[in-house]
Amino acid sequence: MNTPHLRFTDIDPSIEERVDTLLKQMTLEEKVGQLVQINLGWREDTDDWVREGRVGSILSLTDTQEINRLQRIAVEESRLGIPLLIGNDVIHGYRTVFPIPLAESCTWEPALLERASRVAADEAAASGTDWIFAPMVDICRDPRWGRIAEGAGEDPFLGSAMAQARIRGFQAADLTSERRIVACPKHYVAYGAAEAGKDYNTVDISERTLRDVYLPPFKAAFDAGAGTVMSAFNELNGIPASANAFTLRTILREEWGFPGVVLSDFDAIGELIHHGFAEDHKTATRKSILAGVDVDMMGNAFPFHLAALVREGQTPENLVEHAVRRVLRLKFMLGLFEAPYTDESLADQITLTGENRALALEVCRKSMVLLKNEGKILPLSNSIETLAVIGPLADNHHEPLGCWTLQGRDEDVESVLDGLQAVLPENITLLHVPGCEIEGGDVDFDRAVSAALAADVVVMVLGESLMMSGEAHSRAHLDLPGRQQELLEAVVATGKPVVAVLMAGRPLAIPWMAEHVAAMLMAWHGGIRTGRAVADLLFGNAVPSGKLTASFPRSEGQIPVYYAHKSTGRPIDIRGIIQFDRAHKSQYLDESSDPLFPFGFGLSYTTFAYSDLAVETPEIGLDDTLVVSAKITNTGERTGDEIVQCYVRDLCGSVTRPVKELKGFKKVTLTPGESQIVHFEIPARTLGFHGLTMDYVVEPGEFWVWIGANAREGLKGAFTVIA
Ligand code: BGC
Repeated sequence: MNTPHLRFTDIDPSIEERVDTLLKQMTLEEKVGQLVQINLGWREDTDDWVREGRVGSILSLTDTQEINRLQRIAVEESRLGIPLLIGNDVIHGYRTVFPIPLAESCTWEPALLERASRVAADEAAASGTDWIFAPMVDICRDPRWGRIAEGAGEDPFLGSAMAQARIRGFQAADLTSERRIVACPKHYVAYGAAEAGKDYNTVDISERTLRDVYLPPFKAAFDAGAGTVMSAFNELNGIPASANAFTLRTILREEWGFPGVVLSDFDAIGELIHHGFAEDHKTATRKSILAGVDVDMMGNAFPFHLAALVREGQTPENLVEHAVRRVLRLKFMLGLFEAPYTDESLADQITLTGENRALALEVCRKSMVLLKNEGKILPLSNSIETLAVIGPLADNHHEPLGCWTLQGRDEDVESVLDGLQAVLPENITLLHVPGCEIEGGDVDFDRAVSAALAADVVVMVLGESLMMSGEAHSRAHLDLPGRQQELLEAVVATGKPVVAVLMAGRPLAIPWMAEHVAAMLMAWHGGIRTGRAVADLLFGNAVPSGKLTASFPRSEGQIPVYYAHKSTGRPIDIRGIIQFDRAHKSQYLDESSDPLFPFGFGLSYTTFAYSDLAVETPEIGLDDTLVVSAKITNTGERTGDEIVQCYVRDLCGSVTRPVKELKGFKKVTLTPGESQIVHFEIPARTLGFHGLTMDYVVEPGEFWVWIGANAREGLKGAFTVIA
């Protein structure tokens, strides 16, 4: 695990020479071929296309023998012998399925995600994958959007840290001799801002919001060396992202100098027609290549029109050549020319190993978030006699895999029941009743209630199926699906203490549950080790430490509800003139403005006290660093991890600033009674935003700073930035 990760953004002159030599030999058709990516379902004569050099890469192919067979055709039977690239969606693990990325981000532990990404990439590479279509770095502030599951939540600072960790992890894989893996941050850009949380929907946001919120994780990914990027499906301010010259050329190439490959999303070029942005596939081809897309995923446009456009003088050939150069450069950098084939015995040796499963368990435990723990009912006492486990997800071996699992198998999954059976002390009798299905279907409330009545404590495992989140799976209602709420109410009515374990691919709006159950553990879709992780946490073999990376709404009507909102002219806590004491503030008549659980929130089995905030640099210049610290003390009885967060507010700017912005976080482990001074060093240069001229500016003035346990609370200090 010592290999330094590969930076695909550093150009090697010796590779450029090899690219030049090859480019000179290529026909226009062969050049276009390098810009075409297809899957095997696309055409019957794929072999011929590969042989003729009309395909440069294949997507969604994981069968190693088939990969090698096609590669042999490309290398041994095509005129120039250029190897194929094999691209796959390795979103949260390969065969060793980790928690969904949203859950993984709740660890707030980039180094851990780097290791998890490395394992995913190693397993994928061993099967023949070269190109990973991840990480998804879309910021999302709308949990209705099913793809919130795939990202790192609502915050650009945290999202950038997670993006970098994943790039480092993916691109560190080097299993088969010289072969490497390249990552593909996606979906460029602002896909997560889909109106009303409906997938593929229109995005209309200001350029400032684009630059301050949605672009930073992409920039961070490229700074970490990401070699490719995927252009998104959505339109952005009227221009589809896969034909958007402003984002693809002006920002990506000119401002950032990104030298890598731009891959369109799945038929996103063809979809320019549905957007009403191109009359036909030929126009779509021209608009997207001119805007800066290099490779057509699914090949419905480029293979049929690009060469003709060049011959007709409608598209400059050098544009095509630049794109081909980027693809060839990537193939050389990956080592494909030296080692095009994959050792077919390798995958079995390195896949789903004990070590990988142990890492998945660690990530899983750390990703779960304890949302409530009234009367310290958790961890469960070993002296309870009967435990009822109720709910449609309690003994489920499929849904915990979560959305997007290429190689995940039900047989690898530990259900919550499996996990409990593995850790349960012998003296405890376990009763299990599903009670209802996830959606619709039969109910068995009577048996569930009887089991609850016979038990000392009830664990209810409720939530979403894996198909309720992910691509094209948005929800307008974020409550418990089907008849689960009725089941919950029937069980709560028994008066027995209820611990809710929630599985879902997104934050849910569950205020009734939050009020009526004794404890809540957000387990997400935790991958293959879900059940063991839940059991370990419920019985105290591990102490919860995860914290939310996306706010939980109280109701759908609050959405978007996120911590880094603006103040408005009439913020809710304003006092003074008479109207402000009545309803004339920024608020709802019938709903709180506060989320149910804020960003950064999560409990432990111990407690932490924050004290002694010290702003060590009350005045800083633009090139200085803010140094601020606080003392964190474990005031409880267990050793635990605390995720300490540092937020700032720029009180007044040439454009308005959010009420809080995360600028630092640290995880500390403290034994009972132990204290630690936690320091944050925040360069003044990172306190800026995109100002009136759209340049990044740090404006002198007054700031507040907080060190706290979540976005809602914290010790507050102040500092000044001077010119
Ligand atoms: C998704 C991408 C994915 C691609 C290839 C698209 O539908 O939006 O995230 O990488 O398919 O599977």
